[in-house]
Amino acid sequence: MVPSRMLIKSILAATLVAASFLPSVVAAQTARSPVAPRRELVESVVREAYEKFRSDPSGKNADYIPYLAQVDSKMFGIAIVTTDNQVLTLGDVKYSFSIQSISKVFTLALAMEELGPDKVFAKVGSEPTGRPFNSPLAVVDMPSHSGNPLVNAGAIATTSLISGQNAAEKWNKILDFYSKAAGEKLVLIDEVYKSEAATNTGNKALSYLLAKYDRIYADPFESVDIYTKQCSVGVNATQLARMGATLANNGINPATGEQVIKRENIPEILSTMTMAGLYDGSGGWAWHVGLPAKSGVGGGIVAIAPGKGAIAVFAPPLDEAGNSVKAQKVIEYVAQRLNYNLYSPSSVGLK
Ligand code: DON
Repeated sequence: MVPSRMLIKSILAATLVAASFLPSVVAAQTARSPVAPRRELVESVVREAYEKFRSDPSGKNADYIPYLAQVDSKMFGIAIVTTDNQVLTLGDVKYSFSIQSISKVFTLALAMEELGPDKVFAKVGSEPTGRPFNSPLAVVDMPSHSGNPLVNAGAIATTSLISGQNAAEKWNKILDFYSKAAGEKLVLIDEVYKSEAATNTGNKALSYLLAKYDRIYADPFESVDIYTKQCSVGVNATQLARMGATLANNGINPATGEQVIKRENIPEILSTMTMAGLYDGSGGWAWHVGLPAKSGVGGGIVAIAPGKGAIAVFAPPLDEAGNSVKAQKVIEYVAQRLNYNLYSPSSVGLK
């Protein structure tokens, strides 16, 4: 049967009305990667990983910051937040632990917001040190002297780039930025800050070494103090996963919809994480897991699957390099099972 002109007209009109709704529908859906795994699969893989590694006895809490030695080393939590804001959690995901070195990623992001990537690269650099995260030898030996924004020296230099009339203004700006990435107001864990401030002579020494090479851009001790505060910010695993999901989602927090980090800065941030996020464990991590990630001596690790989401794991016992043992095992397991490895053709749907 040939459709009448009237019928064709009304079909056309209906199509136009539908098309006018399209942009918002598309906008709501673009956050979801076409190759993101199904929720049920993610849930079962996370549960398998939790059961497989929950009794793993390896590693030891950090003790060079006295507070961290006291944290219950059996705590274990896994959280995934996807770019379309699905949240999956298991275990101790409400406990607020200190973000520690994972903060370095977000201060880097803030410095890039303020100065742009080229200036940050010129002032800090982005070379792997191949040495422990707090190495003064790396500062002396490396042509950049600051290594990269994710080791202590480079991170203190990065913190010193944040603008403000005084230390309080700089610190509040940093805390506010982290909170936007988490989608919730984050707070300082005062006891961690005090414990770390009383024992951070190594970082103070690094700040003066940076000054010797003109690689710190504000008062050295003020910069170390702000850096110590940023490391003492409390996050739970879910908040940390949401901070990671903000990176996975082109800088837009998937829960609040706010563009927290400029989209164009994401590749430099993620590549820096790939190269140095687990310090002298980064090469092995790239080999086995293939995801940008960042660890902290508080026991957290967050890994980013760009376009898909982020996984955060909290488990205090660390390996020699200062990376949570269980968190590494869980993320490696989940990434393999879900084809997250960036360098695997499967991660983009090529089987
Ligand atoms: O500066 C420090 O030593 C600590 N606030 C942070 C070190 C850290 O988290 C290294 N991580 N794995």
